[in-house]
Amino acid sequence: MYLCLCRGITESEVREAGRAGCVMPCQLESKFGLKQNGNCGRCVKNIREFVAIAVQGAHPVQ
Ligand code: FES
Repeated sequence: MYLCLCRGITESEVREAGRAGCVMPCQLESKFGLKQNGNCGRCVKNIREFVAIAVQGAHPVQ
């Protein structure tokens, strides 16, 4: 599932980043290039939530 349509970032990429320790909002925005080069940034909230879930080792509620 895509979490970011502007950058084509998938749920699995976001989970992997969270497990690798990329958890701070500024780290995520930098890593994935959110809010840069005209990207809308609407996905930031969802990406943060999926990272938090990945760090906790839980699964998102669908
Ligand atoms: S949907 Fe992620 S930057 Fe636009």
